Amino acid sequence: MWRIVAISGDAFAGVSRHLMLMKGKMFRPTLLLLASEAEGSPEPRATAYAAVLELIHLATLVHDDAVDHSVLRRGMPTINALFTHQVSVIAGDFLYSRAVQELVRLGDMEPLRVLAKASNELTLGEMRQLAALDALAFSEDDYEFLIRAKTAALFSAACEVGALCGAPAYREPLRLYGERLGMAFQVADDLLDYTASEETTGKPTGLDLREHKVTLPLIHALKSLSIPERAPIDELFRTPEPTDNQIARVVDVVREAGGLEYARRRGEEFAAQAEEAISVLPVTAARAALYEAVAYVMARRS
Ligand code: IPE
Ligand code: IPE
Ligand code: MG
Ligand code: MG
Repeated sequence: MWRIVAISGDAFAGVSRHLMLMKGKMFRPTLLLLASEAEGSPEPRATAYAAVLELIHLATLVHDDAVDHSVLRRGMPTINALFTHQVSVIAGDFLYSRAVQELVRLGDMEPLRVLAKASNELTLGEMRQLAALDALAFSEDDYEFLIRAKTAALFSAACEVGALCGAPAYREPLRLYGERLGMAFQVADDLLDYTASEETTGKPTGLDLREHKVTLPLIHALKSLSIPERAPIDELFRTPEPTDNQIARVVDVVREAGGLEYARRRGEEFAAQAEEAISVLPVTAARAALYEAVAYVMARRS
């Protein structure tokens, strides 16, 4: 993957050097490789697609951090924090376009089609989140629609492309598995924004509330709160730059209203659906690892 982005002596050298130091979990490429082995044997072509997939993911993170005004990713300063907002825009485009070049070089139309569609969906998801005018009116359906686009689309593409490489007979179950796992992953991620610490996630916590982003725990809490009970929430959403205290207060209100518990249960439902999707796969080491990936998503702390 780094061979694809490394260009020495260029204006991007500093940026790509920094990106190489930021280590992610490599979860999506791992899923792609596992999916490619679902019929029992490894398929060498899958490695190149796994690299491209992580490149697309990295591009979205570079853009997402600029959009979310986030200063920390993978325990390191974000591109927008270390360089500028402008550099992030161009660096994200650079990574995206390198991924496209690589896909063209690989020359297979079907994975290209799947990844192009997922990238486009992802962009629409990010746009939808940005354009949500009355954040507090966001429904659970709106939320699911949004995370399906911004996160589950790439997970499902990972598994579908893996299937295209080495397990074509299981393309649909693997696609479905990826989509459901992606839903569970984003619900868990949104929960971590409420419950985890910056040291474990490597990114700022409480950022969703700070940025006035409404996710599942809050959506659920809002359903049951009376007008006086929701006062701290309304106040936070009226404040352009909420304080740590305001955020902590809202986290407490959401917890007491059962929002965290509800999101945990909803995540578990998506996880169970993901498991169901791969029950049709032949019994292989890859299938066992795909089941483990579900457990990992539900237990992860970072
Ligand atoms: C972050 O994804 C973006 C989300 C969809 C929440 P990861 O948590 O997989 O990020 P890295 O790649 O491990 O940093
Ligand atoms: C996920 O969005 C990133 C993308 C899918 C592009 P978030 O903004 O919710 O994720 P984090 O918390 O920054 O990783
Ligand atoms: Mg973000
Ligand atoms: Mg975001």
